Amino acid sequence: MRPALVIIGSTFGDYKTETVIPLATSIEIMHMATLIHDDIVDDAETRRGIKTMQSALGKNTAVYCGDFLFTRAFMLVADMAEVDMLKDLSKAIAYICDSEIDQNEQKFDQTVDVRKYLKRIGGKTAALFALSLAMGAHKAGCDKKLTSKLTNIGKNIGMAFQIVDDILDFTGNEKTVGKPLLSDAKQGIYTLPVIYSLQGSYKEETMKAIEMIDEDSGESLLECVIKSGGLERTKGLARKFIKKALKIKDSLPDGYGKDAITSIIEKQLERKF
Ligand code: IPE
Ligand code: MG
Ligand code: MG
Ligand code: MG
Repeated sequence: MRPALVIIGSTFGDYKTETVIPLATSIEIMHMATLIHDDIVDDAETRRGIKTMQSALGKNTAVYCGDFLFTRAFMLVADMAEVDMLKDLSKAIAYICDSEIDQNEQKFDQTVDVRKYLKRIGGKTAALFALSLAMGAHKAGCDKKLTSKLTNIGKNIGMAFQIVDDILDFTGNEKTVGKPLLSDAKQGIYTLPVIYSLQGSYKEETMKAIEMIDEDSGESLLECVIKSGGLERTKGLARKFIKKALKIKDSLPDGYGKDAITSIIEKQLERKF
């Protein structure tokens, strides 16, 4: 998805395969590096239906492999002698790390609120979506106004994407999702469905469900987020970000890029993996 956004962004300007493909590749490699490190921190056994690097080869090897991939991503961009883009890429990585640190510090904190959650996902996920569209557009010579519109669309898609990821952690099919379910709450990461559930009249019950998560594999918590309406409210917020993205998208120039962005935006809410 992220490299696709780089390519789509570039179609709004002077698209050149030989420059945009390495750029899209660098974004995918960088994303892969963040996932390898994410799986170490999250102690995840599977991703995309197969063993994660950390579970197959151990955490030490996985740290180095992630680092190795980061350097490859930078080398690809450096080969194009794009100092501005190196800066943008570095900024995005810093933003991702910063948000992951926030998330780590907020672990097991039941007072974490919607504002903190949105800030967190804005950094850990939406920043890279925004950068992907922007980088493609920038490289293809789009003007500032158009690039900033695309950045904004990317941000909103990314917000919806992470909210859906957090919903799938509760309601997804483990086989289709390809990664372990209910892993966020088990680790003490309270995402939007839980945050909403903790706000309503099911607060006490939700707190109890959190306490017994290791005993019942999160069954009570899943029940809570459903009957409290937390899950529905979460979907509602995802819809809001999708609506926002669609609205900005309307003002884009007609053509292939606009159509591709429209279909990506529309697919987000029905995503199953
Ligand atoms: C982490 O989010 C995304 C990154 C910044 C790499 P998650 O921890 O929710 O990602 P998954 O669910 O393991 O893919
Ligand atoms: Mg994870
Ligand atoms: Mg994580
Ligand atoms: Mg997740």
